[in-house]
Amino acid sequence: MTLRVAIVGMGGIGNNHGRCYTNHPDAKVVAVCDILQERSDKAAEAFGCQGFYSVQSLLDSGVEFDAASVTTAGIENGGDHYAPTMQLLRAGYPVLGEKPISNSVAEAEEMVAQAAEKNLRYGINLNHRFTPAAELAKDWVLRGRLGEVNMIDMTMWINNPNETSPHFHMRALHPHSLDVMRYFAQSDVTQVHAIFKKGKGRKIWSNVQVNLLYENGIIGHLRGSYDGNFGATSMGGGSYGLETLDVFGSDGRIFLRDACEELTFYPRFEGQMERHENYGGMSHFGETFQSRIGHWVDQNLAQVAPDKIDASGADALHVQRIIEAAIESWDSGTVVSL
Ligand SMILES: NC(=O)c1ccc[n+]([C@@H]2O[C@H](COP(=O)([O-])OP(=O)(O)OC[C@H]3O[C@@H](n4cnc5c(N)ncnc54)[C@H](O)[C@@H]3O)[C@@H](O)[C@H]2O)c1
Repeated sequence: MTLRVAIVGMGGIGNNHGRCYTNHPDAKVVAVCDILQERSDKAAEAFGCQGFYSVQSLLDSGVEFDAASVTTAGIENGGDHYAPTMQLLRAGYPVLGEKPISNSVAEAEEMVAQAAEKNLRYGINLNHRFTPAAELAKDWVLRGRLGEVNMIDMTMWINNPNETSPHFHMRALHPHSLDVMRYFAQSDVTQVHAIFKKGKGRKIWSNVQVNLLYENGIIGHLRGSYDGNFGATSMGGGSYGLETLDVFGSDGRIFLRDACEELTFYPRFEGQMERHENYGGMSHFGETFQSRIGHWVDQNLAQVAPDKIDASGADALHVQRIIEAAIESWDSGTVVSL
């Protein structure tokens, strides 16, 4: 069986989704759409499919497809997702959206509610946790290798000079970090305290430190920056930066660097350290697009129930609520409860 896919929004990321579907043995791009005609035409040629200039014309065309990617951007990289996502969901199509699910929690809630009402799969490209190393680390947590998890610390920083909105950094980048932390905490956040700093010469809040309390008692800390990119790894040195995850338990610690590059288990008392580099053959963050989108294809072909989709719209909505709580915390100088 082949999953026939339409892609809406043919910028760099829409074309990236297109390449991932094309590389998947069981998926095929059958339509692309962009309000910029040149982008749609170019992508239609690249993927050998029909191109459209509006979602409505795609829906009216009679082209048959099974699912769609929505890879629009907009304000804070999420302001344009709502309209095409709602059009597609209302028309009965499963959607894989880009992060942030939206820069507006109210719109994110509507999209998640619409997918639930129609019983449709709605996933978000929270790709950082779709790595063999993250899966192995999660398995260690689930098997109790760390004992009781006490703390989760994460850093995520890149160089991004974008100055378009005061909280662009928090809303556009940290869906990724907060999703990875929640994946390992296996629990929702109940309390948030955040402090921000504008980097040298910057107009926006480009540095952040966030303290988090999860429902199950785990405490978390996030350090984030758009003035980052310290140290050259395969993610650094170029436009991408550096990401680290630490999970501390009563019996051991996990350290994961750059999503897939280095995974280490440190026993607390005795036993052997276990260290993997490029576990499962994945060596660069860029490969997470293929693994996340491949997983979405597989879950659709397997007709996984909408509420069992990994990195779902509901998951993305939860992290967006944490982001808004962090902003509120800074604005009010208080700890915000969720
Ligand atoms: N998951 C990741 O690791 C990752 C990395 C980078 C970017 N992103 C996300 O990918 C998304 C896209 O980023 P980009 O850099 O490709 O953006 P972009 O602005 O280059 O492309 C978006 C395209 O969507 C089109 N568009 C907007 N509204 C439309 C509509 N209603 N119908 C059809 N087309 C429409 C625009 O004309 C544009 O061509 C953003 O949300 C961004 O946050 C994700």
